[in-house]
Amino acid sequence: MTQQRKILVTAALPYANGSIHLGHMLEYVQTDIWTRFQRAMGHEVWFAWADDAHGTPIMLHAKKRGIAPEQLIEEMSAEHQKDFQDFNISYDEFSSTHTQTNQALVELIWARLQEKGAVDNRTISQYFDPEASIFLPDRFIRGTCPRCQATDQAGDSCDACGASYDPTDLIDPHSAISGATPVLKDTEHFFVTLEQFREGLSAWIDSGAVQPEVANKLKEWFGEALRDWDVTRDAPYFGFPIPGQTDKYFYVWLDAPVGYLASFKNICQREGLDFDAWLSPETDTEMHHFIGKDIIYFHCLFWPAMLEGAGFRQPTQVHAHGFLTVNGAKMSKSRGTFIKARTWLDHINADALRYYFAAKLTPSLGDIDLSLEDFKARVNSDLVGKLVNIASRCSGFIHKLGDGQLSSALPDPDLYAHFIEQQRAIETDYDQLNFAGAIRQIMALADEANQYIDQHKPWQMAKEDNREDEVVAICTQGLNLFRVLITWLQPVIPATAHEASQFLNTSIEHFDAVSEPLLNHSIEKFKPLMQRIEQTQLDQVIDESRESLT
Ligand code: MSP
Ligand code: ZN
Repeated sequence: MTQQRKILVTAALPYANGSIHLGHMLEYVQTDIWTRFQRAMGHEVWFAWADDAHGTPIMLHAKKRGIAPEQLIEEMSAEHQKDFQDFNISYDEFSSTHTQTNQALVELIWARLQEKGAVDNRTISQYFDPEASIFLPDRFIRGTCPRCQATDQAGDSCDACGASYDPTDLIDPHSAISGATPVLKDTEHFFVTLEQFREGLSAWIDSGAVQPEVANKLKEWFGEALRDWDVTRDAPYFGFPIPGQTDKYFYVWLDAPVGYLASFKNICQREGLDFDAWLSPETDTEMHHFIGKDIIYFHCLFWPAMLEGAGFRQPTQVHAHGFLTVNGAKMSKSRGTFIKARTWLDHINADALRYYFAAKLTPSLGDIDLSLEDFKARVNSDLVGKLVNIASRCSGFIHKLGDGQLSSALPDPDLYAHFIEQQRAIETDYDQLNFAGAIRQIMALADEANQYIDQHKPWQMAKEDNREDEVVAICTQGLNLFRVLITWLQPVIPATAHEASQFLNTSIEHFDAVSEPLLNHSIEKFKPLMQRIEQTQLDQVIDESRESLT
């Protein structure tokens, strides 16, 4: 047994502002597969996350509905957690960034940043909506692009030509909240002075904490002085007040990653873990963040700087992934491909999607396409046609001719050993987030298992006299190969694997358990473990996603 690792895992906190969609699920499935894999290796793993509850959009959304933001985030949290449970995401704690635990940690980190001289304040001039009496975040200012003249563009960047600029560069700016023309107004803001963390950040990037593609991007940013990070928002704002100030709040992106730690702190309290030891720079524990490529800046510059400034440990690794496209294009409401997690769950098995994502996920930042045609073909061929087929072809004979009992020896122990020999390579792929590689190897072995059964034709043997023991032995071999494969696939298709473990009457929790075959062992009656995906199911998902456009 390798040494037991202690691992804290997080996924990016979804905004408590809208429903979970399949793009989110790509990340959460990736995180969950890795987490389940590490548990299957016998490591100590904690998956802590939360809803990201603060910020202007959430405040305005609640206002529009005429409810308090607290009520909105409570409703969203319940909805999100239901989606995650039904997708079999095995988190240990789902909290919120709007908690006292988080606030206390934010204030602690803030105080330490101040002590370190890493906080600066100065008066800036910012767009203000005189009708709504609110300072406007860049996204809430619309106007004409200064570069290409496209109308109705956001205050920070142009969708039409990709230019990024300051809101004051926009031509004919107006507030997205009231439509009023914004005016410039002075306000005092606090900044984290990032440049002083340059050395620590460089060392961290060189420590192998990020993928090579991410390291290159970061080094580009390091080409010039790191700009001070504005962490202040003026009232009205839904967030944590800055201590000692009036009407000033922490920007949502300051308290959001701290939410990882606050969520983990809940676990520590519940499980009796030493939070401070886990967070110490001298720790031998690991901290892994899974994120999308759009939030690299926050996790690879601001967050490690905050941790260093606060005297906490650095992330062991930040794992960034690409974006999900559906049928080759950006998810689109008009095409019905902006698919909510719930719409999917209403019609199609969660494990099937988890399997498809796994078959496509690698450690690269490339986008991942969910082609529904390909999804159907792949699930029906791999999971139903190959994997489950092994068990369904073998189990009947064990009951009919063997009284539900596996035989006492494998007829082909070499074939079994050949399977087990691949385990290390599969483990490496899982550990390095090359799930596509792991799936490829497992499915190649599924083909070999089916070939074994095809060659020995137990259904023919069963018609001949006095060959009952041989038939049961062949099927014992087949079911043992199935058990190996389903154990290795358990991180990917946990619900299916759980049903298989009940059928096999054995635990599939740890990879090492398959080093010995199951012999002289009684099994339960086989129940179909996975249904074929039908076109009508996919059509329904698309139709309903189109309908939800309002
Ligand atoms: N609240 C922030 C994260 C704070 S973490 C301290 C946020 N929320 S989000 O809801 O917009 O996104 C949550 C995660 O889902 C992000 O990692 C984001 O990259 C990911 N995805 C959102 N849409 C996605 C796709 N279409 N495809 C893949 N991942 C996507 O960002
Ligand atoms: Zn433009």
